[in-house]
Amino acid sequence: MKKPNIAILGATGVVGREILKIMDELKVEYKSLKLLSSAKSAGTELKFQGESYIVEEAVPESFDGINIVIASAGGTTSKKFAPEIVKRGGVLIDNSSAFRMEPDVPLVIAYVNDEDLKKHKGIIANPNCSTSQLMLVLKPLHEKAKIKRLIVSTYQSVSGAGLAAINELTADTKANLAGEGFKNVCFKKPISFNVIPQIDSFCENGYTKEEMKVTNETKKILHLDASTPISCTAVRVPVYRGHSEAVDIEFENEITPDEARNILGNAFGVKVIDNPEDYEYPTTRDAANQDPVFVGRIRKNIAFKNGLSLWCVGDNLRIGAALNTVRICKKITEMNLF
Ligand SMILES: NC(=O)c1ccc[n+]([C@@H]2O[C@H](COP(=O)([O-])OP(=O)(O)OC[C@H]3O[C@@H](n4cnc5c(N)ncnc54)[C@H](OP(=O)(O)O)[C@@H]3O)[C@@H](O)[C@H]2O)c1
Repeated sequence: MKKPNIAILGATGVVGREILKIMDELKVEYKSLKLLSSAKSAGTELKFQGESYIVEEAVPESFDGINIVIASAGGTTSKKFAPEIVKRGGVLIDNSSAFRMEPDVPLVIAYVNDEDLKKHKGIIANPNCSTSQLMLVLKPLHEKAKIKRLIVSTYQSVSGAGLAAINELTADTKANLAGEGFKNVCFKKPISFNVIPQIDSFCENGYTKEEMKVTNETKKILHLDASTPISCTAVRVPVYRGHSEAVDIEFENEITPDEARNILGNAFGVKVIDNPEDYEYPTTRDAANQDPVFVGRIRKNIAFKNGLSLWCVGDNLRIGAALNTVRICKKITEMNLF
């Protein structure tokens, strides 16, 4: 197996730092490692596997000789550097939404649609954090009973909006408890002791971009028909880490809660905690800093013919971003795709 030269673009961000942690945990093999950021954090020292790395400002020449770039630096930065990376023969694994819906860019959740990796032409997209955790749960159920209709409500933590948003929740909460005023910047409304029914800007159809990402990315990853009805409501909650989702699924074929529990109990990357009578169901605190997507409250949905309802929680910084990009990095190395 050929070992790649790897660069992390956005290494100083919330997701970038998590990527480094997971590269260590998953024992990613590499020939060289380069850490990149904007001019703001250039010169920062980051430790990785006992070695000290000085973060460099990303410029086109940073990608000379690099085989795999894991980017977590926002869509504008990815769009700026993607042609430079591809031109130099590198593969970009991108965490932003910049390329996700491009027809010739595979949108991949490792262990869900790995085969799509083979179609890459230099760019591989990592799905939105809410889509990511959902795919590991839906794929095995879809294989069994075929999804006909899907309704998802998300309860998303502030870390999904980056480091500044985490700091805003802390500062807003402190100000609120002290009876002081606070000017929110990252969110359109105060986030402390509040629930905000808006993530990203609104589209013409009244849904937000975040909600449409869940809809469109789910269809692309699971290869669902474009006409499959999917609806999402995405909500920001004052939680630091971990996204929760209430999911209602109608299937073509019958599937019982026990069958679903059994299927999910054996699925890769999923852990079932489902004994509500003893208060056993997953919460965001169970998911924080963990790899699996936790599922519970699996029950027959009484509004649909072949319906199930369930609750799932995942760590948005791990399965929602960093973990999947590192898994993709490992897969394309093993599959000889760089
Ligand atoms: N947070 C999540 O749960 C999550 C989930 C899925 C996807 N994502 C996506 O991942 C990306 C990063 O998210 P984050 O939460 O880690 O944000 P963040 O904490 O704000 O970090 C952003 C990173 O990008 C770097 N950067 C910004 N502009 C740059 C430029 N022009 N050139 C090079 N580097 C630049 C920053 O460097 P400096 O330190 O120099 O500013 C920093 O390292 C976004 O595209 C986001 O949509 C996030």
